[in-house]
Amino acid sequence: MTDSTPSTPRTALVTGGAFGLGAAICQHAARAGYRVAVLDLKLEDCEALLPKLAGTGHVALQADVTDEHQVHAAFEKLGVTPHLVVSNAGIVRFGPLIEHSIDEFRKAVNVNLIGTYIVDREAALRMKTIGGGSIVNLSSVNAITPGPGSGGYPASKAGVAKLTEHLSLELGQFNIRVNCVAPGFIDGGMSAPIYANPKVRELRGGAVPLRRLGTVDDVAESVMWLGSDAAAYVTGHQLVVDGGLVHSALLHLPRV
Ligand SMILES: NC(=O)c1ccc[n+]([C@@H]2O[C@H](COP(=O)([O-])OP(=O)(O)OC[C@H]3O[C@@H](n4cnc5c(N)ncnc54)[C@H](O)[C@@H]3O)[C@@H](O)[C@H]2O)c1
Repeated sequence: MTDSTPSTPRTALVTGGAFGLGAAICQHAARAGYRVAVLDLKLEDCEALLPKLAGTGHVALQADVTDEHQVHAAFEKLGVTPHLVVSNAGIVRFGPLIEHSIDEFRKAVNVNLIGTYIVDREAALRMKTIGGGSIVNLSSVNAITPGPGSGGYPASKAGVAKLTEHLSLELGQFNIRVNCVAPGFIDGGMSAPIYANPKVRELRGGAVPLRRLGTVDDVAESVMWLGSDAAAYVTGHQLVVDGGLVHSALLHLPRV
């Protein structure tokens, strides 16, 4: 089965879809023939993206992913069960762990991990009734190698990776695949302020084995592949999209 036919386009719902990686994922999904549901905190931000998407029939949905009632209402408003749900909404709160406020740590876990669980749960309950579906979560290389000074972000993203595995083994029986994409140094979204500094761009890009920063399109391509029928036998997988970064610990050390 293909991902869409002219008469019955499949629906893809993307959380945190208004900006950054989410907006790129929405654009790739629209180009792949999906009817796209852009979900974010503010309806007007979602609506602003719709004219930039290829095709027609796309919808804007407001919800805070940490609120299960808002998430439920957004899926109800959509009116159809999406074949693809991308749990992309996320935040980072910087700070060294022992100086970080507990409230900021809690916020990162609440949006990144609990918000992902709330959305995936709502999606899976509905996908089960239509014979299956595909969920792609956004983790991070921070799930594998924590970035110092990034507060609750690495722990929350490691939680997303483990949640992905756990959901995949419980949902396989319903033909629901659950995977995640772990982006590395990405030139966009929440990292855009970091790479506004040319020195940081040069140093970080040069530290990556592929010798460049990643783009939002690099990530969106991987999300779309994992979410599509091309990955029909892949579930519980974390696809690292980092130009080789997490394997590069020994790359920059001198040899004697
Ligand atoms: N940009 C990167 O370098 C990078 C690297 C690794 C992983 N990621 C992950 O990719 C995802 C997207 O990040 P981004 O870089 O595009 O960030 P971003 O800040 O540009 O976009 C995040 C989006 O999520 C939305 N959002 C935040 N809290 C929300 C909530 N409670 N409910 C609904 N929507 C909410 C925001 O409004 C925004 O549209 C995140 O999960 C992030 O952790 C990003």
